Amino acid sequence: MSHPLKLGVNIDHVATLRQARYATMLASPNAEPILIDLAQEAVAGGADSLTIHLRADRRHLQDRDVVDICEARPVPVNLEMGNTQEILDIALANQPDFVCLVPEHREEITTEGGLDAAGLRDTLSETIKRLQGAGIAVSLFIDPEAAQLEAAHQLGAEMVELHTGAFANAPDRSEELQRLIEGAKVGHQLGLQVNAGHGINGKNIVDLYQVPHLAELNIGHHLVARALTIGLRQSVAEMRALMNAYPSQA
Ligand code: PXP
Repeated sequence: MSHPLKLGVNIDHVATLRQARYATMLASPNAEPILIDLAQEAVAGGADSLTIHLRADRRHLQDRDVVDICEARPVPVNLEMGNTQEILDIALANQPDFVCLVPEHREEITTEGGLDAAGLRDTLSETIKRLQGAGIAVSLFIDPEAAQLEAAHQLGAEMVELHTGAFANAPDRSEELQRLIEGAKVGHQLGLQVNAGHGINGKNIVDLYQVPHLAELNIGHHLVARALTIGLRQSVAEMRALMNAYPSQA
């Protein structure tokens, strides 16, 4: 069954747990959890796509994981990546269905802030062309600002992912919610597919129903944290059920 609002499940944190114990012993038969098994669990729970982020510092996903997930590909694969030649080569070799370009800084705990699409036009333009030339659709992870959305459009990206981190962490979410609503409208008017992600959980998602034109949400931390209590298949199914309340869009 296909749903109007799709769920991309970010499984990086499954690899985070594995790396905590087995980073230096990945070939060990004891290495667990097994990422591909959990990816299949997410799909069984209703994931529409699998989102993976190969960071330059390899803190969670490893190159082998990208190969395994892209080979198995039970659903479309969305690779999040910083704009570097090394990761671009890996993307081109593994042919994910989508790439989401994100800013990446070594010191950060997770992706903080959106990509400066407006300021980085020249370097992004080349990468976007190479990805699209290989048949990979491109998304840019940006803050919900008109200038960034316009830059994404001018750069020829098919999609944007609106950064919901500020919204998720605000004590009063109304102002950030308004920014997301405006951003989604601008993105839609420009003909971009509008996705969103970062910090979304079972509570704040309800407010996101007010944001129009959303096509896909990418959710990771909450789903994996909740999986400790009810299992990943169930935590994904729970989120999937919540997302079905998103109003259908004109
Ligand atoms: N989207 C992007 C671009 C991200 O970098 C992340 C974090 O890896 C997510 C979505 C998922 O965020 P969270 O783990 O907070 O749900």
